[in-house]
Amino acid sequence: MTTVRRRLLLLLLPALAILMLLGGVVDYWIAVATTQDAYDKALASLALASAAYLHADDGKLEFGPASRISSLLQGGGGDGEEATLYAVTAPDGAFIAGSPGLPSAFAAAAAAGPRSKVAFRDAAFQGLSLRIASLRVPTASGVATVTVAETRERRVRTQRVMLFGKLLVDFAELDITLLLIWIGVYYGLRPLGRLRDEVEAHSPRELHRFDESAVPGELRPLVVAFNRVLELLHDAAMVQHRFVADAAHQMRTPVAGLLAQIELLIQDPRAAPVAAELGTLQRGIQHLAHSANQLLALARAEPVATWHEGLQPVALKPLVESLVERHLERADRAGIDIGAEAQDAQVSGDVWLLEDLLVNLIDNALKYTPAGGHVTVRSGMDDSHPFVEVEDDGPGIPEAERQRVRERFYRRPGSPGMGCGLGLAIVDQIARAHQADFTIVAGASGRGARMRVRFPRRT
Ligand SMILES: Nc1ncnc2c1ncn2[C@@H]1O[C@H](COP(=O)(O)OP(=O)(O)OP(=O)(O)O)[C@@H](O)[C@H]1O
Ligand SMILES: [Mg+2]
Repeated sequence: MTTVRRRLLLLLLPALAILMLLGGVVDYWIAVATTQDAYDKALASLALASAAYLHADDGKLEFGPASRISSLLQGGGGDGEEATLYAVTAPDGAFIAGSPGLPSAFAAAAAAGPRSKVAFRDAAFQGLSLRIASLRVPTASGVATVTVAETRERRVRTQRVMLFGKLLVDFAELDITLLLIWIGVYYGLRPLGRLRDEVEAHSPRELHRFDESAVPGELRPLVVAFNRVLELLHDAAMVQHRFVADAAHQMRTPVAGLLAQIELLIQDPRAAPVAAELGTLQRGIQHLAHSANQLLALARAEPVATWHEGLQPVALKPLVESLVERHLERADRAGIDIGAEAQDAQVSGDVWLLEDLLVNLIDNALKYTPAGGHVTVRSGMDDSHPFVEVEDDGPGIPEAERQRVRERFYRRPGSPGMGCGLGLAIVDQIARAHQADFTIVAGASGRGARMRVRFPRRT
């Protein structure tokens, strides 16, 4: 999502920069044209007003009185820097008054043009950059020329102020536009962000659908397509799950038959010479039976298997007590002291899965704890969280291996007894199905293993 915003920025910023540049050029052009026009009009008015002071006295052209002229020109603006100059020339081109040599705005050849037509030009005079306006004034002795000029500083300054102000407004406008676009994009993309969070939070093991009604119309086709893929995946997982469960189930009956036959054969005196071979065969078939059972338990714990099943309240205390009782005889045979420390605790769960979970933990504890050891099976509440745990004082599992042992078919090298490395994978999967945490730590005395499954708070 950040990429969409970044891309938008990468696209917008150069476009806005070009727009600002073009805007700047247009602003400059407008500032120059408007100020030039306004100041030229003022200069033309000054020339016209000055022309009124040109009069013929006894056939001789005069311009004055000087005091009125100077107050008129000062009124036209001009401090020391912004000087206003003038020059009046007779029809024959002779200088009458003002600044001698001040260039006229008329081209010499056009000096006899129509009356009242003001001409303008830019020129340098005595080191000053001037804007010059000249006017033809008809007199009794011919057409005289009145020229007024002002330095360009004032209009340049006004142009700058106008340009600067306009650019500032443009810049602010563009910034606000960018901000609005950004806010629009941010809020527009929020549903996408929520969908992303949902997808991220979605466990890859659980193939449940996304809520199509919770997303805006534009995103719905995407979510619908996504859900269709999830359904396909779910169906494929379901087929695989059923195959494993069916295969394991199909194996159980003939394997149980085989075991029964072998037990009979072992007891038959005629088989005495091959008793050792029969014993190996029996252990092999027991291993096969155990593997089929473990595969079935794993298949039962698959998330796809529990997709539509509702969870039921399960009391952990009686479950713990009955399972400990069921394992008393085996523990006794192994010389292990097994006990229950069961406190009342209830979870929302699947009682058969929870039984598989505890059976695997107890099986491990009994299998890996040497004779003379102790195994305790507990249930209770930990900070309002229901939990079950199995603790033993056997060899334990080194910290570096505690994650690895949850993997399917992983057995620690040199592990005694019969096993196919599925027990803790089954526990892990069942814990996930109940949104519970499965942790492996060392036992209370620092020896052995303590395997705890902590369930979510009940609401
Ligand atoms: N209580 C325990 N004490 C010491 N090691 C253990 C304990 N529980 C499990 N382990 C180790 O973790 C490994 C994985 O256990 P897991 O239950 O998954 O497989 P398994 O017992 O070998 O086979 P299965 O449970 O499928 O019969 C075991 O091989 C064993 O080395
Ligand atoms: Mg095991």
